[in-house]
Formats: sequence, C-alpha cells, structure tokens
Amino acid sequence: MVGFGWRKPANVAGTSAPAILLSLFVATGGLLFGYDTGSINGILAMETFREDFSTGYIASDGKPGMSPKEISLIVAMLSAGTIVGALMAAPMGDRWGRRLSLIASIGIFCVGAIFQVCAYNVALLIVGRTVAGVGVGIVSVLVPVYQSEMAPKWIRGTLVCAYQLSITAGLFAAAGVNILTHNIPSAAAYRIPIGLQLTWAVVLALGMLVLPETPRYLIKRGYKDAAALSLSRLRRLDITHPALIEELAEIQANHEYELALGPDTYKDIFFGDPHLGRRTLTGCGLQMLQQLTGVNFIMYYGTTFFSGAGVDDPYLISLIMQIINMVSTFPGLFVVESWGRRRLLIVGSIGMAICQLLIASFATATGDSNQPVQNQILIIFVAIYIFFFAASWGPVVWVVTAEIYPLKVRAKSMSVSTASNWLLNFGIAYGTPYLVNTSSKGKGETEYLGSRVFFVWGAFCILSIAFVWCMVYETSKISLEQIDEMYERVDHAWNSRDFEPSWSFQQMRDFGFSESGIPPTEPQLELQPSRTSTSQSDTGGSSTTNTTTTGSQDDKVLTQLGHVDFSY
Ligand code: BGC
Repeated sequence: MVGFGWRKPANVAGTSAPAILLSLFVATGGLLFGYDTGSINGILAMETFREDFSTGYIASDGKPGMSPKEISLIVAMLSAGTIVGALMAAPMGDRWGRRLSLIASIGIFCVGAIFQVCAYNVALLIVGRTVAGVGVGIVSVLVPVYQSEMAPKWIRGTLVCAYQLSITAGLFAAAGVNILTHNIPSAAAYRIPIGLQLTWAVVLALGMLVLPETPRYLIKRGYKDAAALSLSRLRRLDITHPALIEELAEIQANHEYELALGPDTYKDIFFGDPHLGRRTLTGCGLQMLQQLTGVNFIMYYGTTFFSGAGVDDPYLISLIMQIINMVSTFPGLFVVESWGRRRLLIVGSIGMAICQLLIASFATATGDSNQPVQNQILIIFVAIYIFFFAASWGPVVWVVTAEIYPLKVRAKSMSVSTASNWLLNFGIAYGTPYLVNTSSKGKGETEYLGSRVFFVWGAFCILSIAFVWCMVYETSKISLEQIDEMYERVDHAWNSRDFEPSWSFQQMRDFGFSESGIPPTEPQLELQPSRTSTSQSDTGGSSTTNTTTTGSQDDKVLTQLGHVDFSY
C-alpha cells in the first residue's frame, strides 16, 4: 500500500474509516451513470424491441426497426437530459445541500426509469430517457463533490477514482445483462435490463437518507454546529477535540477568505477571485477533452463500428472492451496519489495518442480493407487505448474537477464543467454516426472517415498533453483549502508539483494578512500573539467563532498537538 501512497499519515488525528466507507458507498452513484448510458447500445439491437417500437420503418436487414433519426434521438436525448441535470445540480446542491439533492436526483432518475419500463412507443421512451438523464446529470456533479468534501486528503483522489470504477462497472453490467436477456422472446428482453437499474437506485437513496451532509457545505451555509457534528461522525473524534475544532476553524477561515476576495455568482466563476476563471477553464477543458479522446465512440458505437470493420464477433469484442475499461481503472486508482494527477494524465494522453494515430495510419495505408490482420491490429490497439483511458483520463478528470474549485463556487463550477462534458458527450453520440458512417463497410465510402476518425481523436489527445502541462495544477496530498493557497502562490501549473503549503487561513483572518493573500514576514509573525484557540457559540440560529488569545492551559494542549496535521 505504501507504494500507492495510501498510508494514512501517522500525525492525522482521528480515524479515516467512516469517511472512506461513505465515499465508497456514494461512489456507487456511478453505477446509475454507467448502466443508464450503456444499456441502450444492446437494447437497440434486440429484435423484440425493434418489432415493438417500430414506426413502420424497415431497416437494412429487411426487418422492422427504427429510422436513423429515431435511433439518434433515443440515444442522444439521455445526454441532453444530463446537460440540464448537470446545470441544475449547482442551485440544488447549494440550496438543499449535497445529500438531499442527491436523494432528489435519484428520485428523478427513478421516475425516468419507470417511464422507460412502461414505455410502449418511441415518444414515451424518449421522455423516460430524458428524465432519467436529468437525474444522472445531477448525480454526475454531486457524487464527486460529496466525495471530495468528505474525504481525507491522503486518499481523496483514490476515492473519487472509485466513482469512475462504478461508472465502468455500470457500463459492463449493462452489456452483460443485455447479453443475458436479448434472446428472451418477449418484451421482458428489454424491460428487464431497463427495470434493473431501479434496484440500485433505491438502495442508494435509502443509504443516502442516513448519511451525513458534508461539513464543508454546512460551513458554507453557516451551520457551524451541524458541521461540527458531521465532522465528528466522519473522524470519530469528540466534538470538543482540539484537532476537530482546528480543522473546522480552518475550513471556516478559508471560506471567509474566499468570500473576502469577491462574490460567488455565475459571472464570478469565470472572472472572480481567487483565480476562478483559470480554474473553471481548466475543469471545462479537461471535461471536454475527456470526451474528445473518443472514448464514447467505442462505448456507444463499438459494436456497430467493429461489425462495420468486418470483425467476426462484434458483441463479444465490445464486451471485452467493457471488461478492459473496468479492470484498467485499478492501475489509475493505485497510482493517482503517488504519481499525482498531472503525471497520470500526461502518461495517459501519450498512450492514447500513440494507439489512435497507429490505428488511423494503418487504416489509411490499407484503405479500410477489412483484412483479418487489419482487424486484429484494430482490436489490439483499441484495447490498449481503452486501457490508457481507463487508467488516466477516465477517473482523473473527475478527481481534478472535484477538487480544484474553492468551496464558495464549487457546486457552480463543477456543474458548468460537467455540463461541458455532457454537451460533448451529446455531440459525439449524435454526430459521430454521420461522420464515420458506422453502418457501412467502408469500401468506396470515401466521404466517410471510417477508422480514420482516430486521427481526430488522436489529435485531441496530443492537444490534451499541452493542456495538462499548461493548465492542470498538481492537487494530490494537499487539502482542498490548501489548493486555494497553491493557486495564489504558484503562477504556472508546471511548477505546482513543488508547492509546499504554508498559510493558515485562520491566521490570515485573525491577523489580517494583506488582501492579496500574502502572508506577513517572519518578524511580523513573531510580534503576533503566540497561539489562538477557537471556540464556538450559537447565537439564535447562526453560529459565531470567537478567537481568543490564551496562555498556559491551551498552550500545553497545543504543544502536545504540535505534530498533528490538522488539514485533512
Ligand atoms: C466518461 C464517460 C465514459 C466513461 C467510460 C467517464 O469518465 O465521462 O463519458 O462513458 O468514462 O468509462
């Protein structure tokens, strides 16, 4: 475990187990995301489904089916719903809290799923998918936010990676269930896979009912006592424990510092301080580039693409790709803390770019001729590509976007950046078939890209190397509050790896460090009182923090705690 950077530092007070278990449980929200986006692939190909939902269109195999326009709408309206959901997540998450909004989003998802199970025509199915998409969109923003606001810093990245693991498990489960049911000679063939997603949604919603709200959200809303209780449950420390009081005070001071630098409106996430525009741009850029690596081309259209390329058993190959996608998340999960986010993203981009450019070059050289050797090469390099994606850009994009934003705008910035992911997801789901013509065999279809579409994805992977180098700050091993300090003090992302946190936001608040956030010089500090202690009192619903300067008793406690790391 040491090599993976997963050892709880000896000087961290309390236990991390509850926070880790809660984060892992909430991560399973990714199952809804993966299953819902993945299940339609196989359902569309089921004969019973095509017969029951056909509007009279006769497909190229001479059997009833749906028109390409209807298929595009059925596939893509889920993504359209997710864009709306991702944008709704911020107002909901900031007003009702992360936890209640997650429960509400699962409720919305269930309504959409029920619509789909009961649907008997294309219109109802599309309505159901759009509504379920809204739920998935909210989940996709608030799960990583909830996790990162709960998690101890030394394992935060790994826990958010577990969310991606659930997404891939959901995709895999959807493919597996479809394979098991597709031969049932009745509507059960597609109603079972659609209905099954309700089971986990219900378990998740029931679990969320008993989970705590995140302490950071409660601080944001000014509920200090509730925040203390939540933190006390998470760390298994008494509410009066100095380490707990100190951690809470630092979160609070950091939030006050952020607010002192300016408001938290939607305009501010692009133009406000501290460096909000740069951070929002980083998140949106990462999320869009994640889609432009072309992963969903394989996830959504893999089966049709492989069959168009003349691969013998496209269903099996697609299932194998899903397995590789799921299993390869583990290497990323293991090294995200020890390698850090930047290095993992860059290695992933290089690996993906090489695979894609090789596939595209080979296809250009052989002219999409569907030779067995060519197919083997295609399959092998797509598999290696999926490995690199699943170990790097799949999980790490969610990790980085969940941690780079300051508390005051976290939900808003996360929601806008996630919406940009879904927007591109929608564009790729809707537009790629027209670009690639997945249904043709490629021969003589020079107006379509065929396998050469990998040139496009490869070019974006190369662009992503430069993007990460210039824009992504290294956020591993430091607390969410210390990330604020890093953005203030480190001018260039490529220097961020060497950053050592040194500010205390409590000191900054109490001793009035300059507005620019520059700490005072050593001699100035020495003139300041030696210690501070924080006590809380509730004043008619809103709580206040009293910072007092004390001597002997507190000094003794704090001296004993001198080696304890308070920044979780
Ligand atoms: C992406 C999804 C993709 C999945 C594949 C996620 O991180 O956001 O669009 O389908 O990874 O594993």
